[in-house]
Amino acid sequence: MKFFIDTANLDQIKEAHELGILDGVTTNPSLMAKEGISGDKNVIDHYAKICKVTSGDVSAEVISTDFEGMVEEGKKLAGIAENIVVKVPMIKDGVKAISYFTEHGIRTNCTLVFSPGQAILAAKAGATYVSPFIGRVDDTCWDGMQLIRDIAEIYSVQFFDTEILAASIRNPMHIVESAKSGADVVTCPLKAILGLLNHPLTDKGLAKFLADHKNAQK
Ligand code: E4P
Repeated sequence: MKFFIDTANLDQIKEAHELGILDGVTTNPSLMAKEGISGDKNVIDHYAKICKVTSGDVSAEVISTDFEGMVEEGKKLAGIAENIVVKVPMIKDGVKAISYFTEHGIRTNCTLVFSPGQAILAAKAGATYVSPFIGRVDDTCWDGMQLIRDIAEIYSVQFFDTEILAASIRNPMHIVESAKSGADVVTCPLKAILGLLNHPLTDKGLAKFLADHKNAQK
């Protein structure tokens, strides 16, 4: 399973990259705004900086919601670096744009996916990645992980190539459950990735090893 970091923050991207476990980055307009990035040139420059930190796939989301606008914007984004993946929302024109990008060799991430039916459409259009938002599904008291399991089952029996990118991850258990449920990729905040490290018995065990080593030197 691939690990992406879900942020536009360069320091956090570098920190995850330095762990040696980073396979890519996802962003969205809210995450870009959080970093204070606005205006076409600044957005493009920021994506270029992210692509210099990692050679893994970097999802850059279009803002347009009409087919022509998405195609124009997606081509510009795809021109920034070879590892850019154009992120397109699951709307009618978005499906049309994904089909266009697929035909023209531009890789895509179909975002804002909340149902197995939407995931089928994304795969039929040839999306490289499909992004089911598990945290946001959980927030509405539905089962986000069931969505991952359903999509994994459908893609498996139908031999779809689209990779399942579990998004809207809120905690380390979401990562573990996504791995069990058949996600090909998880995109996570740095805090959730680092949360995987924690176990009190590791801390206790290490303290004991170091204490025993110190005592043996006396
Ligand atoms: C990533 O591709 C998604 O945009 C992101 O995971 C959404 O996360 P959120 O629901 O925490 O905003």
